[in-house]
Amino acid sequence: MKLGQMLHGTPHADAPGAIQHARAYELLSKVVYLGDRRRMFSRLVDLAGVRPGDRVLDVGCGPGYLTALAAEAASPGGSALGIDPSEPMIKEGRRTRASANCSFEVDKAESLTAPDGSFDVVVSSLAVHHIPEDARGQAFAQVFRVLRPGGRVVLADFPPPRGRFGRLLVGATAGEVMRDNPVDRIAPMFVAAGFAGPVESRIGPFLHCVRAVKPD
Ligand SMILES: C[S@@+](CC[C@H](N)C(=O)[O-])C[C@H]1O[C@@H](n2cnc3c(N)ncnc32)[C@H](O)[C@@H]1O
Repeated sequence: MKLGQMLHGTPHADAPGAIQHARAYELLSKVVYLGDRRRMFSRLVDLAGVRPGDRVLDVGCGPGYLTALAAEAASPGGSALGIDPSEPMIKEGRRTRASANCSFEVDKAESLTAPDGSFDVVVSSLAVHHIPEDARGQAFAQVFRVLRPGGRVVLADFPPPRGRFGRLLVGATAGEVMRDNPVDRIAPMFVAAGFAGPVESRIGPFLHCVRAVKPD
């Protein structure tokens, strides 16, 4: 059984969808970044330009590691909300990382319940490839809707490995969705949703980042 299948809790874990095994995912995350997780995810928060007072939304937050860092950067005066369709993930986020300015709600990227213009910043890590492919355009449109004019968004996703060995390893462990993850389609989806100037960058080997702005 592949790692992805174990985490999803279904026999078809290669397909996009919610991750059910929150504690196993959190444990894996601690290991996989080789002690560098805080530095890498802090760089993501910096890239999004999170400032004190900002209202931040983390889409596909999982157990909330990035959400909590965003909440820290938004203090004092700001807050972060993590959303995820997986109830176990939201429960784990609430159990381990919720605070006065850091909260978690069950919700989906493609049908966000937040009001129009209610966030200054949207962040997301390793979640785009989990959104069903036919719902991704709608998810980007929702991110556009919930950001205020001038608001910023940074999405980071797993870049497909280039070498033969890396492709074999990722294909055998995580599955084809991660092995062939089309991160080059993120910037065009931002443009289609109405965002200005998508800019692509990398943080270490695991995060392909795309930053964009909702025009004023
Ligand atoms: C690989 S995890 C990333 C979690 C966290 N952002 C991190 O970096 O550790 C992907 C997350 O996307 C969530 N997800 C799946 N479908 C989604 C959707 N339609 N909208 C938002 N999140 C979704 C999964 O439940 C899972 O928690």
